[in-house]
Amino acid sequence: SDERSLRPANLSQYIGQQKVKENLSIFIQAARMREEALDHVLLYGPPGLGKTTLASIIANEMGVQFRSTSGPAIERSGDLAAILSSLEPGDVLFIDEIHRLPRSVEEILYPAMEDFFLDIVIGTGPSARSVRIDLPPFTLVGATTRAGLLSAPLRDRFGVMSRLDFYDPDALCEIVGRTAAIFETAITNDASAEIARRSRGTPRIANRLLKRVRDISQVKGEHQVSLSTTTHALGMLQVDEQGLDHIDHMLLTGIIDGFQGGPVGLDTIAATIGEESQTIEDVYEPYLLQIGFIQRTPRGRLATSKAYQHLGLKKDDG
Ligand code: ADE
Repeated sequence: SDERSLRPANLSQYIGQQKVKENLSIFIQAARMREEALDHVLLYGPPGLGKTTLASIIANEMGVQFRSTSGPAIERSGDLAAILSSLEPGDVLFIDEIHRLPRSVEEILYPAMEDFFLDIVIGTGPSARSVRIDLPPFTLVGATTRAGLLSAPLRDRFGVMSRLDFYDPDALCEIVGRTAAIFETAITNDASAEIARRSRGTPRIANRLLKRVRDISQVKGEHQVSLSTTTHALGMLQVDEQGLDHIDHMLLTGIIDGFQGGPVGLDTIAATIGEESQTIEDVYEPYLLQIGFIQRTPRGRLATSKAYQHLGLKKDDG
């Protein structure tokens, strides 16, 4: 089975994010009763929590087509105009990384979202003229890591804003079990729970770790993925007891060894470990903040005593 068949097709199969699901379910039901397009939806939160999956579920539940693109893929306003003018009434257009839309494209999106028309300028100089193209009512589902990355006018045009949070271990454990069943792989409950516990609250990570653990279990000739194989496999994959990986470790030891635990500026720490600031901020930091291993202060990032303890390091107060 490929990635696609892993994705749940409707809200009832989607595990976790209870509040988001409850709200969406009502808004979808109401829009369906009125036979209208659903209001535009902004989904935000760290990567791997299921924003794309939810967007495709929204289309499915509304009984409309799902069209998908991303902010960086739309370079010119004409690219967006081509997509928008091919939509059918009620369709869902999903724009991943919507904060990366070029400003010129974003501006033609405003009237499209608000009043379902496009203002396109044809030609240049004195012969330039503007034509208005009417669009069918549609639902824009935008995804981004942080709502604050969007300009205020764009953000204001979403009627629904839903934040996805890290999953708790029970929900992740259920997801691992579901994925294993799709793979027709037998796995013990304690093995699923171990993968869940070490997946940083993130289904995408849990499913990826499950695949690698399954490989190792299969080569060992197990008829069922066991806890001991899972523990061994996660060690091989350099996933530690808390689920932190090599880059998390570089980030923490970078702050601790390089800057006496901080505070240190994001760009400085990024340069030290050779990662993009944006990647650290959007991918690595949110979970480390959530588990209380780092703090953000006005003067930069600080490693907490919890981080020192986890790494078996002593805080040098000298
Ligand atoms: N696979 C990945 N994320 C999922 C979720 N939230 N529910 C069910 N299956 C998933």
